[in-house]
Amino acid sequence: MNLADLNTVALAMVTPGKGILAADESSGTIKKRFDAIKVESTEETRRDYREMLFRSQEAMSRYISGVILYDETIWQNARDGTPLIKLIEQAGAIPGIKVDEGTQPLPNCPGELVTAGLDKLAERLKKYYERGARFAKWRAVIDIGKTIPTMTAISVNAHALARYAALCQAAQIVPIVEPEVLMDGDHDIDRCYEVTERVLNKTFQEMRVQRVALEGMILKPNMAISGKKSSTQASVEEVAQKTIRLLKACVPAAVPGIAFLSGGQSDQEATAHLDAMNRIGGLPWRLTFSYGRALQAAPQQAWAGKAANVAAGQQAFVHRARMNALASKGEWKP
Ligand code: 13P
Repeated sequence: MNLADLNTVALAMVTPGKGILAADESSGTIKKRFDAIKVESTEETRRDYREMLFRSQEAMSRYISGVILYDETIWQNARDGTPLIKLIEQAGAIPGIKVDEGTQPLPNCPGELVTAGLDKLAERLKKYYERGARFAKWRAVIDIGKTIPTMTAISVNAHALARYAALCQAAQIVPIVEPEVLMDGDHDIDRCYEVTERVLNKTFQEMRVQRVALEGMILKPNMAISGKKSSTQASVEEVAQKTIRLLKACVPAAVPGIAFLSGGQSDQEATAHLDAMNRIGGLPWRLTFSYGRALQAAPQQAWAGKAANVAAGQQAFVHRARMNALASKGEWKP
């Protein structure tokens, strides 16, 4: 492992004024997104949609530091035969790849999940590196309920995240470590805080045990936020204050950057929260976005699967990318 090079890539991924586009929806997830805009999900429509994003020159060259791809996309070509990954590189952004293989039920823990994909991961990473990927992503999912998460679920997911991160670094790929505590429940912000604290502490403990070099990774956490179905919704200021307090308590200063997931927040909320956190300032790590839905919902609506709407889709994408880029510097104005 060349740690200096990993650190250089990690820092580039969190360049102030830029952030990451998570365009790594699995075939099942992108179908759900396309269903919502009444577009059939085929290899071709998925290609056309992603080509539209990657050809958004202004967004890609000014506001996007890196793009997380799904396996299908990294091997796909644009309509004119240019590999999609080349479009990303030509815009000056770094290509990355989702390498987890989704979640499976966790035995003995009803309602809980563990992320799969460690088998043959070393071989897959080698192929992705040769294709041009310089970072990867692995998402663990922790749900909040009355009796969950169990320590079992937290522990096995943290162990897998650390195994993945160590394998990435051995393959000279920067791991994005994503332990997502879901915001789907009716819990309040303090319950989210408490669960996320346990999850982050366990994840960093496992990474220490497995000798992951913190300077060569990026953390992709959820924010401390109220559950969607909670009757009490914390304000932007409270989310920002509590998330920063939580991260300061759990994330070592050696980590170069933190790139949040949006997790089902509205576009505006995701931008406002990131902005409020960056306004607090004085942080040991750079804070930016690695949004999927909060960057893509607007362009998906504008595009709606029609070639005639490509310019409108790109404009919607540029707008969200620019708003989040401003938020990554604490300079966004509602
Ligand atoms: P969301 O921002 O839509 O949560 O997606 C980010 C992501 O990559 C989840 O793994």
